[in-house]
Amino acid sequence: MNVPLLAMDEGERADLDAFRRDVLAGLAEAPRAIPAKYLYDARGSALFDAICEQPEYYPTRTEAAILRQRAQEIARLGGRGCALVEYGSGSSVKTRLLLEAMPDLHAYVPIDISRRHLEATARRLREDYPGLRVDPVTGDYMALDALPDTISDARRIGFFPGSTIGNLMPEEAVLFLRRARRLLRPDGALVLGVDLKKDPQWLHDAYNDRAGVTAQFTLNLLRRMNRELEATFDLSAFAHDASYNEAAGRIEIYFRSLRDQMVTIAGSRFQFAQGERIHTEYSYKYDQTEIAELARQGGFSVAASWTDPSRLFAVAFLK
Ligand code: AVJ
Repeated sequence: MNVPLLAMDEGERADLDAFRRDVLAGLAEAPRAIPAKYLYDARGSALFDAICEQPEYYPTRTEAAILRQRAQEIARLGGRGCALVEYGSGSSVKTRLLLEAMPDLHAYVPIDISRRHLEATARRLREDYPGLRVDPVTGDYMALDALPDTISDARRIGFFPGSTIGNLMPEEAVLFLRRARRLLRPDGALVLGVDLKKDPQWLHDAYNDRAGVTAQFTLNLLRRMNRELEATFDLSAFAHDASYNEAAGRIEIYFRSLRDQMVTIAGSRFQFAQGERIHTEYSYKYDQTEIAELARQGGFSVAASWTDPSRLFAVAFLK
């Protein structure tokens, strides 16, 4: 979204200030890093949707298949009249699989930092499910500690799909679960999508699709800095760099400088050496034992865990 400065509201101006601050701080660190959340501007979100369609990127369709198969069971475990609380109002496809299996839902509560995105999601869902109460909450789900009063008595079932938890460092993932535990209350539950450890070649390919969509997604961050922070990145002088770190159990994504070069960002000059990597994302992979341990540390236990026949992805029901 190329919003002219004058058309920006207060919130957008604050977002831009935070982006500038985080980029300048992240590039001053050693090693250099830019927070993954900045990958998702309008173009980045569209590119992420395109990643989900790539043949190598198995998580989205695998998780959807598990949810499709287990929706009734999830609805039964959730119980009648519960409130479905989605962390990040992402792919409505997955949400709809659950909504359709839960016709007597008390409310659907999507949480998202983007108010625009949230409003669009809410409008579409209200149109398609006329009886459904949609109570969107604008905010950062890592910090949120209250939900609308309208859902106060309903059992709260959290939904955190897409293995987004894999973007967090394991310590942060535990903190997230503890917060979720509090928000969802002691009788609540959490439906959690987690990408599983597997043959490193599969993982490598999922983040290095042949069509180069993931590379475009990573390099879109440079394009965004050029547009929003008046940066001077030459997109042809950087490359997407994604590999599986087996010891750490994570995919690591960077953009790599292809030559020695100087780039101006928001008025400051930065030198990039040939081969230097700037970190953008981690995507942690877990096995079932690690999922159970993560849940335990977060104050939950695994009531059920479902996977696909090739054990690529897991959907866990945490209580
Ligand atoms: C949205 C964080 C789950 O880690 O697989 C996909 C993001 N980045 N390809 C993932 C992503 C590049 C994705 N998550």
